[in-house]
Amino acid sequence: MNPATIVTGATGSMGAAAVEALALRGVPVIMACRNLAKAEAVKAGILSRVPGADLEIRQLDLASMASVRRFADGIVPGEVLALFNNAGVISKGYSVTEDGFENTFAVNYFGPWLLTCLLLPKLPADARIVNMISLTCRFVPLDEQTLHPSEKDFRQLGTYARAKRALVSFSMELARRNPSLFVNLADPGIVASDMIDLGHWYDPLADALFKPFCRKPESGVQPALRALASDRRNRCFIGKSDREIPGRYEDPDMDARIWATTQKLMEF
Ligand SMILES: NC(=O)c1ccc[n+]([C@@H]2O[C@H](COP(=O)([O-])OP(=O)(O)OC[C@H]3O[C@@H](n4cnc5c(N)ncnc54)[C@H](OP(=O)(O)O)[C@@H]3O)[C@@H](O)[C@H]2O)c1
Repeated sequence: MNPATIVTGATGSMGAAAVEALALRGVPVIMACRNLAKAEAVKAGILSRVPGADLEIRQLDLASMASVRRFADGIVPGEVLALFNNAGVISKGYSVTEDGFENTFAVNYFGPWLLTCLLLPKLPADARIVNMISLTCRFVPLDEQTLHPSEKDFRQLGTYARAKRALVSFSMELARRNPSLFVNLADPGIVASDMIDLGHWYDPLADALFKPFCRKPESGVQPALRALASDRRNRCFIGKSDREIPGRYEDPDMDARIWATTQKLMEF
């Protein structure tokens, strides 16, 4: 049995595109999805185009740390070679999860953090970990307080950007602690997906004007696919190339503090 790649958010625009591209290469995929009915429909579509694809759906709600733990418990050592932390959300309003985390942070940061750390002992030492970031995170600062935005501090895009910035910090610290892993970032650019509908009254107009200029999901996911197959580490895959992670993100002391704070919160 060939080891599988886990794709989180496999029901989404780029997640489904990633699963299909991996299936075409003969890679077995574990589709880690919140909505099982939607996942079945995505799987059926892919199987109709890639007959014989080795796809397995498993339930994962990244907003629930209990669900993350259940998913990780179900993974058998040696079963998985690569993890693509693709799922993400831009929450339309402030809400708090069952674990007490702001929802955008739970899905984009705390969930992937816990999932990755729980899976590490079951992955090979040279596993591929690819974390999906966003260009928005280059504009925001990070500190321990950032991990817990209050309702007053919540901003749709600002909170999303900070959660992705925290994911960058996690990736860099993960790589420092596990030098044999291949940890990379992927930035898809701006992609025409449901995610960029922010729930404003003018969205249909913005869609008509803006979406034709956005990348298609199949194109937006290419950097992540290259990262999953790469022999390079600690790089940011963007467009057709990969580059060093920009120096503005280099802050090992901060990364270590954010890690320690998160570890405590996760009781890990
Ligand atoms: N679109 C862009 O322009 C853009 C730009 C930069 C970065 N990104 C990043 O790229 C990734 C994929 O985005 P996309 O554009 O493909 O968005 P999308 O089509 O909205 O897909 C998002 C995926 O995340 C899943 N998800 C949301 N909440 C979840 C939860 N609580 N637990 C588990 N899965 C959850 C969704 O599941 P459901 O189907 O159940 O909702 C869906 O499968 C995200 O990390 C996003 O932040 C996107």
